[in-house]
This record gives sequence, C-alpha cells and structure tokens, in this order.
Amino acid sequence: MKTAPFNQKISPFLSLKDSSIQMAVDILRKGGLVAFPTETVYGLGARVFDSKAISKIFNVKGRPSDNPLIVHVADLKQFTLVVKKVPPVAEKLIKAFWPGPLTLILPRASKVPPQVSAGLFTLAVRMPNHPLALHLLQELGEPVAAPSANRSGRPSPTQANHVRNELGNEVKMVLDGGPCPVGLESTVLDITKGVPRILRPGQITLENLEAVIGKVLPYETSSEDSLVKSPGSKHSHYVPNVRIILIPEKEYTKECERWKRSGKKLGVLSRKKFDVPKEGFLFYRQCEGDDALYAQNLFSAFRDAEAKGVEVLLVEQVAKKGLGVAIMDRLERAAEGSK
Ligand code: TXA
Ligand code: MG
Repeated sequence: MKTAPFNQKISPFLSLKDSSIQMAVDILRKGGLVAFPTETVYGLGARVFDSKAISKIFNVKGRPSDNPLIVHVADLKQFTLVVKKVPPVAEKLIKAFWPGPLTLILPRASKVPPQVSAGLFTLAVRMPNHPLALHLLQELGEPVAAPSANRSGRPSPTQANHVRNELGNEVKMVLDGGPCPVGLESTVLDITKGVPRILRPGQITLENLEAVIGKVLPYETSSEDSLVKSPGSKHSHYVPNVRIILIPEKEYTKECERWKRSGKKLGVLSRKKFDVPKEGFLFYRQCEGDDALYAQNLFSAFRDAEAKGVEVLLVEQVAKKGLGVAIMDRLERAAEGSK
C-alpha cells in the first residue's frame, strides 16, 4: 500500500466527480453507510435522523452502544436542527474555528434519535474543513453522524485504503479524498456547564481556545469527571496490532541499539532524524519535520508497520505542549493498549 511520505504537501482541494457525491447521497438516503474524508480522519457516515442507519454504524464498527457519535454539519442551518440552544460561547467558537477540527458538546435537540448520543442529553457537533465532506453534506441537505471509520479500538483511518482494508464490503462506498491533512481526531470541547473543558485534545489547542473564550479546563486523562463526561474515553483506543514502545528523544538512539539485541521484528518511528542505521529494522520512518507532520503520519505509520509484520514499534515521544498534547494522548493510549 502506498502512503504519503513525511514531506509530502497534501492539498485538501482534490476534485472528485459530482457523480460520486450523488451516488453517496443516494446511498445515505436509502439508509446506507458512506465513509468520507474529513481534515482530521475518515468518518463512517449515516443520516442523523435515520435510527436504523445509526444502528448500522455501531454494528459495523463493533462500537459499544454507550459511546456517542459526532454529528457533522455543512452550515449553521444544519447545526440549529440538531442542538437545543446555542450559548454565546458557542457562537464565538464557531466564528473562530468552523469549519475546522473542533467538536462542541451542546444540549441535544429532542428530534435527534437518542442513540446518536448514546442516550445522553448532550450532542457532539462539528463542521469539518474538507471540501468533499462539505460537498457531501450540502448535497444531502442534512446532518450526518460519523465516528472515525475504523473498527472500535483501532487507530483512526487517515486514507481511503485504511477504511477499505478494515471495513471491506460492510461499507457501501468510500469517498477517496487522499490522505487527511491533520491526521488526528478533532478537539472535543464540552460547553454544557460552567467553564468549558477539553474532553479530547486535538489540533486546536487549549491556548487557541483560551485566546477566543478565556479560561478553558485542560484535558485530564484520569480524572473521574472527564471519564464521566467523555464516555468514549473509558474504552481502549488507537491500538494497532504492534507493540508500541515510547522513547524520549534523549534516549532514542541508545534504546534502538538495545532493542536490536532483542531478536524481535522492529520498527522505527521518530519525529526527528536520528543516527540509527537502517539495518535490522523491518519498518523505518524518520520524520524530519514538526509536530503537525508527525501527527499527520502517525496512524498511517502504525498501519504500515503492522502490514510489514513489525512486532515492536519504537516511537519517539514529543513534548506535551501545543499539538504535542494530542500526539502524546494517542501515543500513550496506543502504548497502553498494545502491551
Ligand atoms: O475528527 C473527528 O472528530 C472524527 C471525524 C470523522 O470527524 N470523528 C471522530 O469520532 O473521532 P469518534 O466517534 O471516533 O469520536 C467521538 C468522540 C468520542 O470520544 C466520544 O466519546 C466523544 O467524541 N463524544 C461524542 N458525543 C459526546 C457527548 N455527547 N458528550 C461527551 N463526549 C462525546
Ligand atoms: Mg474513533
């Protein structure tokens, strides 16, 4: 499988024939599922107001029924269809960050089937910043519920092939928009009570949010409160079929040498370039770039290492600041789940 090299500039403005969008709309209208690209990861979509189609999402993904979905909208008209009220803080955030990788938790409109949000009275909503996703939503003319298009617990797909390989014939159609530019899932922000709180870190950081709305509570991995508020967080996530070992920058070279003596099938995945000889590694990807490039390539590197039969992937850690908070969240959960 061909993947985007680290240095490839990805243009989200890829053209896809209108006929493909029309076919996708027809499938959705008939109650089917369509996978589509967003700027973050590929989503597995169904019409929000079609309860049977929503159930299919949970079945195909093997998703626990207590893990709520994100609703995707193309415009404010679609947005106001699914939420009960729009507080002033939401207006500010929408103006600053939509379309973009920010999911807002708001009170759910009663006509949205409860199973979309796993029975909660709140709903997760976002406007994706991807031309194909927006085109699809506009042509359909109504909101689409879409979790990441992977089997539950696995890393999110960032290329159309990832979805095809993992979900196969269970999804009628995969709209191919090439590799997703962000590569990590959206930031989830709860604005239903008191001070807004980050439930899942993403490309839009705490600092970005605070610059627009003032005080925001940071993402907390272990707090009881955040477990209750973000139901998905209690399930394991982002786990490839490869053991993930996290290594700080300072120890990277030394640890690679040490692991070489283990007799395991090894892979290298680093954010910077290290002086580690390629010999002895089944998978070797050193990213000479910034955190954004690392984020963009993280999940596809997991899958590529898996495809090569790597047993242990030696992954460089990054500093937990800015986008590094989201990168380390995914890496730590992947490492924890792959033990
Ligand atoms: O970037 C993304 O957000 C991608 C693309 C496809 O848009 N979608 C995505 O969806 O990552 P999913 O289902 O894989 O993750 C949704 C997250 C879960 O952690 C879930 O618990 C949380 O959002 N969530 C959804 N509804 C919620 C609610 N009402 N209250 C709290 N958390 C909620
Ligand atoms: Mg997911």
